[in-house]
Amino acid sequence: MARIRPQYVCANCGAVSPRWQGRCESCGEWNTLSEEAAASAPAALRSGRGRVVDLAQLAGATPDLPRILTGMAEFDRVTGGGFVPGSAVLVGGDPGIGKSTLLIQVAAALARSGRRVVYISGEEAIGQIRLRAERLGLRDAPVELAAETNVEDILATLEAGRRFDLAIVDSVQTLWTALAESAPGTVTQVRTSAQALVRYAKASGTSVALVGHVTKDGQIAGPRVVEHMVDAVLYFEGDTGLHFRILRTVKNRFGAAAEIGVFEMTDKGLKEVVNPSLLFIGDRNATSPGTAVFAGIEGTRPLLVEVQALVAETALGTPRRAVVGWDPSRLAMILAVLEARCGMRFGTHDVYLNVAGGLRLAEPAADLAVAAAVVSSRAGLATQRESVYFGEVSLSGAVRPVAQTALRLREAERLGFTRAVLPGGSREGVRSTIQLDEITTLADIVAAIAAESAANGRGW
Ligand code: TYD
Ligand code: MG
Repeated sequence: MARIRPQYVCANCGAVSPRWQGRCESCGEWNTLSEEAAASAPAALRSGRGRVVDLAQLAGATPDLPRILTGMAEFDRVTGGGFVPGSAVLVGGDPGIGKSTLLIQVAAALARSGRRVVYISGEEAIGQIRLRAERLGLRDAPVELAAETNVEDILATLEAGRRFDLAIVDSVQTLWTALAESAPGTVTQVRTSAQALVRYAKASGTSVALVGHVTKDGQIAGPRVVEHMVDAVLYFEGDTGLHFRILRTVKNRFGAAAEIGVFEMTDKGLKEVVNPSLLFIGDRNATSPGTAVFAGIEGTRPLLVEVQALVAETALGTPRRAVVGWDPSRLAMILAVLEARCGMRFGTHDVYLNVAGGLRLAEPAADLAVAAAVVSSRAGLATQRESVYFGEVSLSGAVRPVAQTALRLREAERLGFTRAVLPGGSREGVRSTIQLDEITTLADIVAAIAAESAANGRGW
């Protein structure tokens, strides 16, 4: 009999290494490798014989995907129009962010509309789930509950009786199966358990929603290893100090990725935020310098967000750059372009950048709004009230056009903004009632603010 050699699996990314190392070569995380017995290949694979499968053509009839709508508009938007029967969804997020709350609300909404829903918790006892449901005003919803962690028992339960429309499993980290030999909580256990549930979803037509905690230190097997095998990955994020939560699509085989849903955590659970732009520009103090409103797009939805900058003389030898909600290297680039192309100096200044409401921006189109906020703070002069900004800045200082101009302008118009500063050439084919100021280089913004500054008798 062949000796089973141990292998070392990274808890963060699932990479396998033949020997132990302090740092995972694949994802670069420290102390995430642990020993697990290597699984032996299934008998069919070892015999080298398989069965011939029927091949199909691309052009074939495909029925429209039926969808299971929850009626929670923000949630349905993120899933791309509701759960697809037979699909598996992973909902990831930091502990305590509100994943269980969100899913019990989803379960209740579906159960109330006559769907058969089961909520299986490996983390909380039935009593705890009931208490929470009571607080959320959901006790009357006919959701079926179980507190179970063994995958074989879960599958047997799901297979008994009428088919479930949705099965929620909270969380994958607590699952264990006799199919895998390693200890509960290891990557192999999580992966094998998730695989079994995904296979069940495909075979039965039940939608399966898996909850996964993300831990930064990689102590628990991260749901990263599960991401590849599910159809959609949703991340629930937000600052636990703030009330807003953002559910973001990271992957979706049945809809747009990068879609977001915005919720507010209240004492009665998660409430949908119907008009998120108001939230992210809500308490805007338009007369203070250092802010600019970015007309952005998140997924398929336009979203106005306030970008705040503070440029202050540094008390230290090396000036600080601190960024919340944006890519720090992108800020470094904007500062470098402002220095090299627009004659501004930040060498003796700290620069702080913050995106309002705890939102994380990924669009390069935010460049112009960031630049405007930084220049405005440096000049000590507010950007024009009622203006929105969008455009990508290149290293040459040119402002480049971005996609979806019409959608951005419509949102700005809807929220009462009267002027947009946007890249040259964006105006073509776009009808808008608001004033459009096209600019081609970053120096144009600096010149405009400098002129206003000079008109007010202030130098900078
Ligand atoms: P929970 O859904 O348990 O988080 P997760 O499953 O992601 O670990 O949410 C926990 C937090 O949410 C907890 O700190 C309390 C807060 N919360 C409210 O503010 N209001 C509520 O109605 C509920 C149920 C929870
Ligand atoms: Mg939970």
